[in-house]
Amino acid sequence: MAGQSARRVPPTAALDRAADPEMTAGAVLAALPEPVFVLDASNSLRFLNGAAEQFFAGGQAALIGRGLNELIPADSPLVALVDQARTAEISISEYGVTLESPRIGSHFVTIEVAPMAEAPGCVVVSLQERSIARKIDQQLTHRGAARSVTAMAAMLAHEVKNPLSGIRGAAQLLERDVAPGGVELTRLIIDEADRIVALVDRMDLFADQQPIERRPVNIHRVLEHVRRLAGSGFARSCRIVESYDPSLPAVHGNRNLLVQVFLNLMKNAAEAVPPGDGVITLSTRYQQGVRLAVSGSESRVHLPLLVAVEDNGPGIPEDVRAHLFDPFVTTKSGGKGLGLALVAKIVGDHGGVIEFDSEPGRTVFRVMLPMAPPGEMAGEPGDEA
Ligand SMILES: Nc1ncnc2c1ncn2[C@@H]1O[C@H](COP(=O)(O)OP(=O)(O)OP(=O)(O)O)[C@@H](O)[C@H]1O
Ligand SMILES: [Mg+2]
Repeated sequence: MAGQSARRVPPTAALDRAADPEMTAGAVLAALPEPVFVLDASNSLRFLNGAAEQFFAGGQAALIGRGLNELIPADSPLVALVDQARTAEISISEYGVTLESPRIGSHFVTIEVAPMAEAPGCVVVSLQERSIARKIDQQLTHRGAARSVTAMAAMLAHEVKNPLSGIRGAAQLLERDVAPGGVELTRLIIDEADRIVALVDRMDLFADQQPIERRPVNIHRVLEHVRRLAGSGFARSCRIVESYDPSLPAVHGNRNLLVQVFLNLMKNAAEAVPPGDGVITLSTRYQQGVRLAVSGSESRVHLPLLVAVEDNGPGIPEDVRAHLFDPFVTTKSGGKGLGLALVAKIVGDHGGVIEFDSEPGRTVFRVMLPMAPPGEMAGEPGDEA
């Protein structure tokens, strides 16, 4: 996963000595669809794989030894990241960066830069256009989706709820006069009207466009609360495993909204796991070097607090993955498809990022959140519901 500071790049020679002669590091790197390249202490290209050749629109011979500044503008975020990783000797990931130059065109990528322990001054850079970057791209479009839901929620409240109360009232009046068999039908009208009102009320959650009120929140208390609610309710028959980093600093967040996020994620997990054999794992971790570029500005949000909800269910159905965070996407007969849309909206309102990995037997949703500004203590009002 991106952003681990302790990651080391295995020495090429060791891989090249691997028992299987076809499995050289070079062959593996050549097959990788993601651009990977190495810059030396003077930011000249020392190595690049096939995908990086394509990315920089040139061959090995022309590119090796070329300075990074000949390929991309000196004020590109990539240059700053490379410098930082080299100086601080940590690996850094940055989500949602646009890299562009006349030579390479425009790319929306996640950049990972890691210093190479075996080659002082050298850093290895990998660019991901398809995987995480695409998820983030989706996440950003979910914000758009959430916005359109917001407008729709406001519209529904006016255009649907009011006439519904009229319909409901009329049915109640009719109930007095209709023949005995008709009462069943007027009841049906009333019940269905109530059901639609309940749905519209749920949509109301999206209608709130105010910036959220944020304080330092102890995320472990949030998770404890969620675990208790879930454990005595919908996740009663699941085993809940907790793996927390107790030293995690406070989240800059809204406690009640964060409860909603993790309740929804846990509910989905509980609904996915095999009956009688369900395991849901909640974990937290500090993750250095994960940042989100803020579109249209130079600033970056640091997102070092990672909270993951993992389950041992069958995985997310292939056909909903691309639109998972959109409203009304569901594979459940009684599902509304609003859980993850709401989660994405709340995480987005926190300036955070959500991503998922899913395969049969292991699905994990990772929420990355910003830290509370230093000096403020968690456990203040708002930390308790
Ligand atoms: N942990 C998971 N494992 C497998 N599939 C999942 C998981 N979480 C979500 N999904 C898939 O994503 C879909 C959308 O989830 P979402 O929470 O938005 O809606 P829902 O659970 O169907 O309905 P609701 O509005 O009641 O939450 C689900 O219907 C399911 O197919
Ligand atoms: Mg759900």
